[in-house]
Order: sequence, then C-alpha cells, then structure tokens
Amino acid sequence: MKNVKIQEIFDYLYEHLTPERIEHSYNVAALAIKLAYKNNTDVLKAQIAGLLHDCAKYMTGKELVDFFNKYDRKITYKYFKKTSKFLPHLLHSFGGGVIAKEKFKIEDKDILNAIKNHTQGRRNMSTLEKIIFVADSISDDRKLNYVKRLQELAKKDLEKTFFEVLRKKVEYIIKQRTYILQQIVDTWNWYVSKNK
Ligand SMILES: [Fe+2]
Ligand SMILES: [Fe+2]
Repeated sequence: MKNVKIQEIFDYLYEHLTPERIEHSYNVAALAIKLAYKNNTDVLKAQIAGLLHDCAKYMTGKELVDFFNKYDRKITYKYFKKTSKFLPHLLHSFGGGVIAKEKFKIEDKDILNAIKNHTQGRRNMSTLEKIIFVADSISDDRKLNYVKRLQELAKKDLEKTFFEVLRKKVEYIIKQRTYILQQIVDTWNWYVSKNK
C-alpha cells in the first residue's frame, strides 16, 4: 500500500465531492478503520476503501453510463446493462473502483472489490468488502433509526451486522417498489443459502 498517497485522495475528494459527501466518506473511513481493527483486517486498506468508496458520486447517472461506455469499461461489469437502464446512479460503486485503479493506481483487489461492491454486494465477500458495505450504511451521518443499534452490533459481530444491513437494503427496495437489481438478489440468495 506504500504507493497510495493519502494526500492525493483528500485533494480529489475536495475537488469532486460536496461537503456532505466528504463528511460521509470520512465517517465511513472512520468506522471502517474501527471494524477492520476489531476483525484483524488491514486498517490502512479500510481507510483507503472508506475514503474512496463514493469517489465517483459526483457524476450523474447519465455521466456514469457515458463513463462506462467510453473505453468499454462496461465489459468488466456484468450487471452493467440493467443497472444503466434502471438505476444508473448505482454505477458509482463500480465506477469508483475504476477510478481507484486508473487514477490512484490501486492494484489491491480487495480494496477495489470493496469499493465496487459497496452498494449491492456479491457472493462470498471478503471481510474488507463486508466492512465497507456495512460502514457505508451505518456511518454517523446516516439518519435512519436503526443506525445506532447496528453500530453497537457491528462492534460485536460483523457477520450478523452485514446480514442485517443487506436485509434492510432489500426490504427498502421492496418498500420503495423500485427495480431490484440481479446483483443484490444474487448477494442475498448466496448469503441466505449459506446461513441455512
Ligand atoms: Fe455509495
Ligand atoms: Fe457511501
């Protein structure tokens, strides 16, 4: 991780993101560091992934679709078609991973996967991926009523918290009656079958 320059990451965040989004990124990084430490995972990787997870969030849905179409970046994202059609803003996750790799020269697969899968997850996620997925949903700036409870749970049991966060996400999508992406369905089904 020695080649990653934290100063450059901060400069990038300040140039591209709103003050609220920067604040959120700090909170996610701070919580990710705590969870990484507790779960014997690299805290520096957690910090980098936390700071960068929303680094593509400055783009609109349409800009994200264009970003993927340019240079054929879409071929690496198997859910691209449906995501761009129904929920293009969610491309910021996978797009963030592309920026982390191309702009910050991050080669570490675990960091890249943690950024790419922070909204929809995937099967068999690593500890770092689960940490970023969880931290993004229950960071201090999140106003939902279950945040404090899940922050407490996360201190004791990352696995349980991860499944709770995933369940809340799926529940929210159904409640909102919005399109449900195959990616989160695949994540959900994988973890449900694993827990059986
Ligand atoms: Fe995000
Ligand atoms: Fe986020």
